[in-house]
Amino acid sequence: MKDKFYITTPIYYANAAPHIGHAYTTVAADALARFYKSQGANVFLLTGMDEHGAKIQKAAEEAGKSPQEFVNGIAEIFEGLWKILEIENNGFIRTTNEKHKEAVRKVLQILFEKGAIYKGEYEGLYCTGCEQFKSENELVDGKCPDHNIAPEMTKEECYLLKMTELQKELIEKIESDEFQIAPERYKKEILSFLEGQKLEDVSISRKNILWGIPLPFDEEHTTYVWVDAFLNYLTGLGWNGDLNDVPKQWPMDVQLIGKDILRVHATIWPIMLLHLGLPLPKKLFVHGHILSGGKKMSKTLGNAIGIDEMIQKFGSDGTRYLLLSAGTFGDDVDVTMERMIEKYNADLANGLGNLVSRVIKLLQNFQFPISNFQLISNDKIFNLINNLEIDKATEFIWKIVRDANKYIEDTKPWESAKDESRKEEFEKVMQKLVDDLGLIAELLTPFMPQTSEKIKKSLETKKLDEVLFQRIK
Ligand code: MSP
Repeated sequence: MKDKFYITTPIYYANAAPHIGHAYTTVAADALARFYKSQGANVFLLTGMDEHGAKIQKAAEEAGKSPQEFVNGIAEIFEGLWKILEIENNGFIRTTNEKHKEAVRKVLQILFEKGAIYKGEYEGLYCTGCEQFKSENELVDGKCPDHNIAPEMTKEECYLLKMTELQKELIEKIESDEFQIAPERYKKEILSFLEGQKLEDVSISRKNILWGIPLPFDEEHTTYVWVDAFLNYLTGLGWNGDLNDVPKQWPMDVQLIGKDILRVHATIWPIMLLHLGLPLPKKLFVHGHILSGGKKMSKTLGNAIGIDEMIQKFGSDGTRYLLLSAGTFGDDVDVTMERMIEKYNADLANGLGNLVSRVIKLLQNFQFPISNFQLISNDKIFNLINNLEIDKATEFIWKIVRDANKYIEDTKPWESAKDESRKEEFEKVMQKLVDDLGLIAELLTPFMPQTSEKIKKSLETKKLDEVLFQRIK
C-alpha cells in the first residue's frame, strides 16, 4: 500500500477552451487519485495551466486582450469544467502566479551559478503550436504534423541548458526503472532515441517573446515556456525554489502525460532535475491520443469535441465513463459522437441503469431480509489500476454488470417471489443481486463518483430518485 501518492497532469496551454483530449488525462488522473484515496493513501492531485509563451501571446492579441486578462478567462473555463467533472484536484497551478514566477527565477539562478546554463546562440525551425524546435525529419511536407503549420526558421542569442553531460546518467535511470517510463514501448522508444544520438543543448530563453518570466541574470530574455512549465510540478506543491526545502510529496508517483509531450518530458525535464540534484519522477505514464477522423483531436486542427458538448449529452459521470473506457489507455483511440452515443446506450442506459432500476424495483415490491453487504477486497481491480490499465478496470466492472443483468433474466425473481414454496430461492437470488450491486457501486467510486453514491443510497433506502442514464436518441 502506498502511504503517499502524488499524481500530476500536464498543465494545459491557456490559449483556448479545453476539449475532450484534455479531459481524458484529467479524468484519468482523478480516477487514480480517488482510487488511492479509497485505499487510505495521502493523495495529492495537481493540475493547472501553462500561461506563458508565443502561442498564448498570439491568442491574446487575436482576442484583443492583454495576455493576463486573456489567460484569466481561459483558466476560469478550465477550472469550471473540472468542477463539473468532479475532479478532486488538490492544487491548480497557474504559471502566471507570482510565487511560481519567483521560484522559477530562483531555480534558473541556481542552474546558472552551477554552470548548467550558459550563453550562446541557437538556430532552428520553431513550431509555435508545440513551442518547440523541430528537426527536419519530424516534419511532414515541411509542416509540423500535430499542428499542420510550417515552423519558422529562428536564429537568436539565447541561454542554453547543458544536456549532453547528463545523457548517460539519464539513460541508466530509465533503463533501471528508477525513472520508469510506461507502457514499455514508450520506454523503448525513448531509449532508442537517447542511445541513437548525442542530445543537443537546449535553448532555455527567448529574446523576442515578451510574455514570459524574465531571466534573473539577464532581463532581456524571457524563460523558455517549457522550462517555466516543468517547474509547476514542484511549485504546485507550494515549493519556493529552495533546494533545502523540497516538499515532502516529491517526487511524483505517477506523472501522466499524452504521447505528444513524451520527448520533452523524458529529456529536458529529467535533465533539469538531475542538474538540481532532485529525485526524478517515479513513473512517467504515457497515454495515447484521442483522435477524431484519424487525426489527433486539437483546437488547431479544428476537429475537437468540446467537453461542455459531451457533458450536456452524457452528464458528468457519463462523460467520465465514456472517456475512461474509450480504448486501451496508452493507445490512440478514435472517437465519434455516434459511437459514444451507442456506447452510452449499451453500457449505461441498457446496462448499468437498467440493472439498478430492476434490482431496486424488486426490492420495493417484494420484502426479503437483506444481510449486510460485505465488500470483498478485489486484487484483480487493484492490479489493473496499479498498472494504469484503466479501461480494463472499467471492463472488469461491466462484466459484473452484464452478468448480473443476465442473472436476473435467467432466474426471473419476480416469479419465485410470488411462490411461497420458492421463498428460499428468491431470497438467495435477491441477496446475490444486492451483493453484486453493492460491489459495483464500490468499484465505481473512482470512475463515476456520483453514480456510485446514488446506487449506494438506493440500496439503503430501496428507492430510486431518478432513472439513471436515460437512453439517448
Ligand atoms: N502546456 C503543455 C504541457 C506542459 S506540462 C509541463 C501542453 N499543453 S496542451 O494544452 O497542449 O496539453 C497537452 C496534453 O493534453 C497532452 O499531453 C494530453 O495530456 C492532453 N491532450 C491534449 N489533446 C489530446 C488528445 N487529442 N488526446 C489525448 N490527450 C490530449 O502540451
